[in-house]
Amino acid sequence: MTNKKILFSGIQPTGEMHIGNYLGAIRNWVNLQNKGEYNCIYSIVDLHAITIDYDQKQYQNRILDLAATLLACGIDPKKSILFLQSSVKEHAELCWLLNTIIPVSELYRMTQYKDKSSKNEKNINIGLLDYPVLMAADVLLYGTEIVPVGEDQSQHLELTNIILKKFNNKFGEFFKKVNPYITTGAKIMSLNDPEKKMSKSIPGSYISLSDTPDEIRKKVSRAVTDSNFDKEMSHGVKNLFDLLLFFNAKEAHDKFLIQYKDKTIKYSELKSELADVIIKELEPIQYRKQELLKNPKKLKNILDSGAKQAQKIAMKNMIEIKKRMGLY
Ligand code: TYM
Repeated sequence: MTNKKILFSGIQPTGEMHIGNYLGAIRNWVNLQNKGEYNCIYSIVDLHAITIDYDQKQYQNRILDLAATLLACGIDPKKSILFLQSSVKEHAELCWLLNTIIPVSELYRMTQYKDKSSKNEKNINIGLLDYPVLMAADVLLYGTEIVPVGEDQSQHLELTNIILKKFNNKFGEFFKKVNPYITTGAKIMSLNDPEKKMSKSIPGSYISLSDTPDEIRKKVSRAVTDSNFDKEMSHGVKNLFDLLLFFNAKEAHDKFLIQYKDKTIKYSELKSELADVIIKELEPIQYRKQELLKNPKKLKNILDSGAKQAQKIAMKNMIEIKKRMGLY
């Protein structure tokens, strides 16, 4: 590790990764890694994902599938640390310590908790409420200053800053302020319900990174649009225009925008061009992923070696944190 600023982010191994995750987070992870300005640490956050119902028999496969997807998108273990959260036990340990300084009322007001608990009424476990504290632990364990995420995570990062201020006030300045890195593409909307964000938990809302060209065409063709040309552009139509831009089809975007303003636009044509550019971007990723999945042992080795590097930093910081809290 050089003395560049630390950048940390995580993704859960729940369901298939979708183009919202890709545009809002992972593509930025890769760009930031390749810029070389930060020490980048990326984690598959398996401890977070077990706070909702999951299939434990399939869980190891899901994790390896996600590792292969991240590598296929361009995460390079020679440039970044990539590891599995549960392999570095200091995450859970620091979460417990931080639990003792954050009032429970702060956690009940988290939008994601309210949303997830209303969708999982039969499994509102303590982990679901504690999710943002574990997330704060992930970030603070490495002295992180930059966190690239989608817009839905900004409330959690605000809470991280509240937690670290409380810690610093009580135990002396140690943690640095955490800055979310949120770019365009940070809020991709659902295709079938464009008032809501694209989400793994809403079937039909997303295009998965492993969808076939046929599936992609079908899903895009079913995306919600309308012909209310005299009102402000609707969320559904705006989302399709945004997707054209994010998939680097500015020319097509501008062409359809003129047609939209003229009220001559045919959404079927826009959708067909959008599907083309999504397929073009995803095809090489899918090919690389299939190659990587042929060698699960190599994937495990990459995660293990990442965990060793991460733990080295984590252990050092934990000693300092525990000293300050009178535990060491
Ligand atoms: P997860 O797995 O739910 O999401 C991974 C990343 O994808 C972004 N994202 C989106 N971006 C744009 N449009 C969307 N529709 C969309 N849906 C998801 C998320 O914002 C996220 O950046 N809690 C985190 C995981 C985590 C984490 C951390 C992140 C755990 N510890 C520490 C940063 C730092 C999450 O939402 O994962």
